[in-house]
Amino acid sequence: MQNEIYLDNSATTAVAEEVVQAMEPYWSIQYGNPSSPHLRGIAAEKTMQSCRRQLAELLEADPSELYFTSSGTEANNLALQGIARIPFLARNPGHIITTPLEHPSVLNVLKYLETLGWEISFLTVGSRGEIDPQEMKTLFRNETKLVSIMFVNNEIGTIAPIQELAELIQAENKDRHQKILFHVDAVQALGYIPLSLQSLGVDLMTFSGHKIFGPKGAGLLYQRGKNRLKPLLFGGNQEKGLRPGTENIPAIVGFTKAAQLVTENREANVKHLQQLRRQLLEGIKDIKDYSIHNHPNGAPHILNMSFKGVRGEVLVHFLEQKRIFVAMGAACSSRRRGMSHVLEGIGLPADEILGAIRISLSPELTPNQIHYVIYSLKETVEEIRNIYM
Ligand SMILES: Cc1ncc(COP(=O)(O)O)c(C=O)c1O
Repeated sequence: MQNEIYLDNSATTAVAEEVVQAMEPYWSIQYGNPSSPHLRGIAAEKTMQSCRRQLAELLEADPSELYFTSSGTEANNLALQGIARIPFLARNPGHIITTPLEHPSVLNVLKYLETLGWEISFLTVGSRGEIDPQEMKTLFRNETKLVSIMFVNNEIGTIAPIQELAELIQAENKDRHQKILFHVDAVQALGYIPLSLQSLGVDLMTFSGHKIFGPKGAGLLYQRGKNRLKPLLFGGNQEKGLRPGTENIPAIVGFTKAAQLVTENREANVKHLQQLRRQLLEGIKDIKDYSIHNHPNGAPHILNMSFKGVRGEVLVHFLEQKRIFVAMGAACSSRRRGMSHVLEGIGLPADEILGAIRISLSPELTPNQIHYVIYSLKETVEEIRNIYM
């Protein structure tokens, strides 16, 4: 919609025009099932393998290390539950290190694993979601089997020092027979942070299509080396039996195109987003009594803020009247009216949590649109304060 300003790109993004075009033939022309033995099936199989190769090239991984899933949620589940299902670990549940700020598709899996006998330790987080890699070392135990840490936080944009964490885990693994695996949820990192899986030294990494201007229904799990995970679903031999079910070729094609676009344009996009972000932060300085909750050096697309005396929920709906769409927090929790576990986790007081809105930008936005957003924010905050304060 022309007159809408969509600022909820961490929840989901519009599918890029080039992505729509790339997907187009795969709905009703090249609709084969990659498992079929005839020409149509073989063509679909070729398309899928070509996508896998292209993604592997972008991520600097081997094509055999990439597994297509239906979403980031599924990839996170497959990584974490897939480890817990390895027969030795299923018999001897171990210890996992994570942070309290992970996405629910990690935190809720870990809660479930606790019921199976796994023990979970949480790193402490700073007031902007920072973690100290050295603290992780103090949490290592003989039974530690896994570390799971998100690359970029989806509510406050904090970037975790993944390389440093990976190096510490590798050093720890030198003397271990049972290696500690490192899983990283990179759903909000792709397109914003350079990702070379070869040099990062991570064992498992999660991606999602609809956060990068690709389609919904497309996720990806990277697993270093050969497959050690056990499947969550039983069925055919698709994705080496790790993720059975007929592959969603249009979504895979769309995801690949989207990943290509955000990777190719990453530097220009980040620069533009940083400018928009600076403009926005500068512009709201005229509003009295506000606080910014995101990390100043966090991902360029995520801003989180509150305005004293203004409920986030009210602000979201007032801005919606002006056709400006922002979020209260993560899409999966904000409609529950619950308190954001991320903002609670970084120790914000309740009034700031309830006041929080998340603005997540896209490179398609223009300075003029941000100018209108600033103007509208000023006007709306004042209007709400006049009513409620
Ligand atoms: C950090 C993070 N991880 C995982 C997910 C889940 O991805 P999907 O929506 O593809 O299931 C999201 C989506 O909000 C996310 O932001």
